[in-house]
Amino acid sequence: MRSLVFGLLGLVAACGTAPIDTPVDGGLVDAAPPLDASLDAAPVPWPFPLPPNFPTPRLPPDAVLTAELAELGRYLFYDVRLSGNGTQACASCHQQARAFSDGLVTPTGSTGDRLRRNAMSLTNVAFNPSQTWANPQATTLERQALIPILGKLPVELGVAGHEQEILDRLAADAAYPARFARAFPDDAAPIGWPNIVSALAAFERRLISGDAPVDRFRAGDTAAISDAAKRGQAMFFSETLECHHCHNGFNFTIAVDHSGLSEQRSQFFNTGLYNVGGTGGYPAADQGLWEFTFVDSDRGRYRPPTLRNVAVTAPYMHDGSIATLEEVLAVYERGGRLVDRGPHAGDGRANPNKSPFVGGFTLTSEQRADLLAYLRALTDDSFLHDPTLSDPFAAPPAARAGSPERP
Ligand code: HEC
Ligand code: HEC
Repeated sequence: MRSLVFGLLGLVAACGTAPIDTPVDGGLVDAAPPLDASLDAAPVPWPFPLPPNFPTPRLPPDAVLTAELAELGRYLFYDVRLSGNGTQACASCHQQARAFSDGLVTPTGSTGDRLRRNAMSLTNVAFNPSQTWANPQATTLERQALIPILGKLPVELGVAGHEQEILDRLAADAAYPARFARAFPDDAAPIGWPNIVSALAAFERRLISGDAPVDRFRAGDTAAISDAAKRGQAMFFSETLECHHCHNGFNFTIAVDHSGLSEQRSQFFNTGLYNVGGTGGYPAADQGLWEFTFVDSDRGRYRPPTLRNVAVTAPYMHDGSIATLEEVLAVYERGGRLVDRGPHAGDGRANPNKSPFVGGFTLTSEQRADLLAYLRALTDDSFLHDPTLSDPFAAPPAARAGSPERP
């Protein structure tokens, strides 16, 4: 087991440091070598329902996906015993009611480390060509999960140094041995870290959201969204506002991967949030894609997030620096954000690396309200309340208080 854990640690290090190929023009960067076309020749059957008009997610070559595995992953996702000191679970920062984000500007890890980035919504992560705001190398959910589990700078779940202790906790539990055995029927000793990571990823692949009012409208129910939202939709897809260039398609982002695409490709853009020093600078703590490419024009480039459920995932942007959707729209309207004082002062509108699609426009207050109505019609209430995605340990509050060891 030790050597496996060290193997995982090596992967985390690889996620954090190694540079990648030089990106091509236009905000595109190859996330990974094109996947072998034979992969799709015999795709692993997708065992969960998909919304109409959604493609089938692509699984990494060695991934397994069964209902039993995803159900085990659900328990682990919500279990604070998965952190070194028993205080934090994935769900601490990824809460269902907020489309699996956390409502904070930036979260704090289990041992008190402040994270530099805003916790992302996990809506439709199965379709991300790369995970996290700007890591072109975190191409699978399995790879991403190692960051919160083992990461030390900052510590999130703080598993490093407690690997065996946590496995012992799970093995001593009344229910986990049977859950692991059901999920890994061919494995004589299934309670181990690689299996935990597989199960978490399987649960995350179930976080599929495609039943918003906008979806019902697209399916022909003309009354599913308000007239204001219909006007907002026309604006969203207009060449004046240009939103759709980056937030397009079934997942409202052009950074998608799925079965049948000939290559797996992520995309990253600078939206002019900062312009420190007037030369394209971003705050020192976070340079976006540049951290992987060291190409100057990649400073401040991030993956366009899905806009599904965006009304419940405030605050916004990679650093949580915009509190409301109204303010997000004001920044796009201006064609970039003006930070008028402090260490990050600068006019993002003039950022030399900003995408030409963030050019600015002028809206009346009624048009602003229409666009907001459209964004709010992307909220999928059935996803936010789906009992099969909820905390399986949920019990009357009195029973939950007290020991974090209690499942
Ligand atoms: C302390 C808070 C915290 C905890 C605990 C945490 N996350 Fe996250 N999560 C974040 C933050 C912050 C980001 C954005 C990271 C970045 O861009 O560098 C993120 C990003 C992600 C993403 C990328 C989503 C996307 O659209 O790219 C996934 C997937 C994810 N987390 C899954 C998990 C899983 C699984 C666990 C438990 C093993 C977990 N997280 C634990 C805060 C947390
Ligand atoms: C050039 C590509 C591009 C265009 C055009 C674009 N966006 Fe974005 N959008 C992004 C990126 C990249 C981010 C994340 C930026 C960051 O965090 O620094 C983002 C973030 C957002 C967010 C915050 C999401 C979150 O979860 O934090 C909202 C809301 C949003 N965009 C709405 C819009 C709207 C509305 C338009 C049209 C007026 C638009 N975008 C046009 C690329 C784009």
